[in-house]
Amino acid sequence: MPELIKLSKSCIGKEEKFAVARVLDAGYLGMGQEVMFFEKELEAFFSNNVHVACVNTGTSALHLALQACDIGAGDEVVIPSITYIASFQATSATGAKPIACDIDPKTGCLSLKALRNKITKNTKAIMYVHYASGVGERDSIFAFAKEFNLRVIEDAAHSFGGRYKGKRIGEDADIACFSFDGIKNITCGEGGGVVSSDQKLIDKIRDLRLLGVQKDTEKRYSGQRSWDFDVEEQGWRYHMSNINAAIGREQLKKFDDFSDKRRSLAKLYVEQLKGLPIKTLDLNFDEIVPHIFPILITDQKREFLKEFLYQHDVETGIHYKPNHLLTKYKGIDCPNAEIFGECLLSLPLHVELKAEDVVRVTSLIKKYLEKA
Ligand SMILES: Cc1ncc(COP(=O)(O)O)c(C=O)c1O
Repeated sequence: MPELIKLSKSCIGKEEKFAVARVLDAGYLGMGQEVMFFEKELEAFFSNNVHVACVNTGTSALHLALQACDIGAGDEVVIPSITYIASFQATSATGAKPIACDIDPKTGCLSLKALRNKITKNTKAIMYVHYASGVGERDSIFAFAKEFNLRVIEDAAHSFGGRYKGKRIGEDADIACFSFDGIKNITCGEGGGVVSSDQKLIDKIRDLRLLGVQKDTEKRYSGQRSWDFDVEEQGWRYHMSNINAAIGREQLKKFDDFSDKRRSLAKLYVEQLKGLPIKTLDLNFDEIVPHIFPILITDQKREFLKEFLYQHDVETGIHYKPNHLLTKYKGIDCPNAEIFGECLLSLPLHVELKAEDVVRVTSLIKKYLEKA
């Protein structure tokens, strides 16, 4: 029996286990110096052009980024319908209304043309999702946001470590949010980060992640905590723990190896799938670091192919069902997103996947297409 090829997987070694043991032995498990070091190391990773605040998930990074931009009840945030539900839920958690917008089917990212029709007097921000680690029409969307005086919060959960025009994603952002959950480009177990060159905004997020307690971060980084403090705003218990930061620090050291591996597997998929009646996305694998590998298969074949692969021990996924089709976020049609959502199938991609696995998956796809 061939071994199951998993869709995604955490890649953890003895270094992460030792790092966690070190934190457990030190006996300070909550937010302290490990988080401070991880933030500093991340800032260096982004060439020290930005400040970083680490939190407990990518979802809370988005929530706090929006809140720190004073986005709340009565405001609208435009979001591509093809994204993880986290982008929508983080927005509605602020009291603002997420407005689902159509996508560019070549990239799965927000369509500028569709965005133009979604702007109202209440629009405050665009949540720009780096679908499958891609950048889509980022430049045009940023120019549009500037023209209409809108904030851009980049949901870069998929694209940690990738580059665009030579700069790391996040380096020249208004605000970029990353996820370090178990299967992302690097993991903390669970975790997230907000990246911005705006020091005031990051300081505000540092207070908001600790229930709004002012300047508690500095205290915790020196092994103390605040007893006499003030709170001016609703905050949340969203900070990162030393345990999670210790895992993230070890993963960051392995990032170059991880990214080489992800890129070469994605390139191999593209090569192996050439000439088949299957679409892949328009992505530059020399710059981006792919988190997922979606393909598009038409004529209602997706479900059959998914089942065929599963019967042959290959796990696949669907990233994502369009959010405007969910009861909570029902809205105006996004026709491209609907077709895209019906054709999507994510093939296995993770650091422990082997080239032979990619060949096995693509051979099975070829076999299926010959039969179908
Ligand atoms: C596009 C997108 N946004 C946000 C998130 C939320 O990140 P987290 O799972 O760390 O909360 C994810 C996680 O998968 C994601 O894929």
